[in-house]
Amino acid sequence: MKRLFCGVDFGTTNTSLALCDGARSWAIPLDTHNDPATSLPSLLYISSEGDKIVGRQAADAFIARNVDREVKLRQMDLGVDVEAYVGAEPDKSDAYNPALVDTNVRHAMRARATLEVNSPGRLFQSLKTLLRQPSFKNTEVFGTKYQIEELVAYILDAAKKRAEAETGAPVEHAVFGRPVRFSEEDAENTLAEQRLRTAAELVGFRDVVFFYEPVGACVEYAIDIEDRQRLMVVDIGGGTCDVCIMEFQGGGAVTDRLASSRILSVAGTPVAGDALDREIIRTKLFPLFGSRARYGPSKLPMPQHIYNQILDWQNIYKLNTEDNINWLLAAEASSNYPEGLRALRCLIRRNYGYLVAREVEAAKKRLSHEEATHITVAHEDIAIEELLERDEFAHIIETILERMLESIVEAETRAGLQPGALDFVLTTGGTCLVPAVQAMLRERFGAERLRSRDTFTSVATGLAVVASHAF
Ligand SMILES: Nc1ncnc2c1ncn2[C@@H]1O[C@H](COP(=O)(O)OP(=O)(O)OP(=O)(O)O)[C@@H](O)[C@H]1O
Ligand SMILES: [Mg+2]
Repeated sequence: MKRLFCGVDFGTTNTSLALCDGARSWAIPLDTHNDPATSLPSLLYISSEGDKIVGRQAADAFIARNVDREVKLRQMDLGVDVEAYVGAEPDKSDAYNPALVDTNVRHAMRARATLEVNSPGRLFQSLKTLLRQPSFKNTEVFGTKYQIEELVAYILDAAKKRAEAETGAPVEHAVFGRPVRFSEEDAENTLAEQRLRTAAELVGFRDVVFFYEPVGACVEYAIDIEDRQRLMVVDIGGGTCDVCIMEFQGGGAVTDRLASSRILSVAGTPVAGDALDREIIRTKLFPLFGSRARYGPSKLPMPQHIYNQILDWQNIYKLNTEDNINWLLAAEASSNYPEGLRALRCLIRRNYGYLVAREVEAAKKRLSHEEATHITVAHEDIAIEELLERDEFAHIIETILERMLESIVEAETRAGLQPGALDFVLTTGGTCLVPAVQAMLRERFGAERLRSRDTFTSVATGLAVVASHAF
């Protein structure tokens, strides 16, 4: 039997894995519950009993068990004094006086943690984005500490096991994709790659080589070309926008073509589909949750930190303290928009954040083939039926599109090439399906030079080809 080589694309939203036998490369099914099965949604659910569920079923488990359930929080005294607020709630009670414990203490706060009580489980999304955050080292889930590398490893492990079922042998060598820039900060960029390597090693990949994700997509296309070509890849996924320009010599064997290929430039920015979703939430949904409401006798504006917190649904539970809920109740009673504040309270109290975020993402996707759609969320006190038109969507994401375009221009500049010098521009990644992104690319390169590659698997398929030459 021919030796098989492995390429892994651990994505912010979807993970895929491809095998290459030296001649042919193909993405394997990773999640039979997902459509397409070749994409494993990069989701992890850890139940309170410690079970780990990945992929589409992780989302299903979270919705079935956690959503529509009253979140109860408990304050836990950590028994230590801290100088500043470090993710724990300061103890404001009169009973606690650190100066009584140590007379030298002038200012201290008692560290307290806010814990969710009786939660059936926790869902993690966009774990790849956490890889770059130095402050996110680990998280405690039902009394067990998980390093970020371990969380990522559960996803990689599922993919690796599927690959081993397919090949009937251990899969220990792989070419892994990485974005051009996990982060704009160099130190965070390095940290993220180190952590991804550790996660891969944790599940038994002994030999891991990293290649830029768009290079994978470029190779996937170029193995079939016969003539000399200069190609650009624009890969915009959930977390990052990645661009590369490569040159391939035509003719000859695939091996020679790959050996003589050159990467002329890469560029990228950590802004993609997740950022588009957040922009929709900010502009279209915040007002419906009372962001412009006034409250109290002085008609004060609502504190905006609440809304910054709900921008990422994974943070919403932190708002669910007794103090906050009581405050929201009082604000609602004196507000000029009580329905909005009631909806906000319901969102926080009943764990609807994920459903709202999912509906926003689904509406965004519908706009790729419909001119207009409604963002519809109807649960208890939340009754949203908000029209979103394609033109309006294009308008609200303008600044994000500019950042993506900057990466494209940067890649051209680094390669010393004008847009006209490129033979083809290959597009891949879910966010390249957004009509406004397509329009931006058409305007710069002309429709005739755009070639769309498989949205979710072209990167892994190309990385597996790279692997067949690297190992
Ligand atoms: N039809 C569509 N229209 C618009 N956006 C889409 C569509 N399908 C998927 N997306 C978006 O594309 C993103 C996921 O794309 P993809 O699977 O390529 O990302 P990823 O590879 O996981 O992420 P990254 O490469 O950034 O780490 C999500 O933000 C998703 O909402
Ligand atoms: Mg991707």
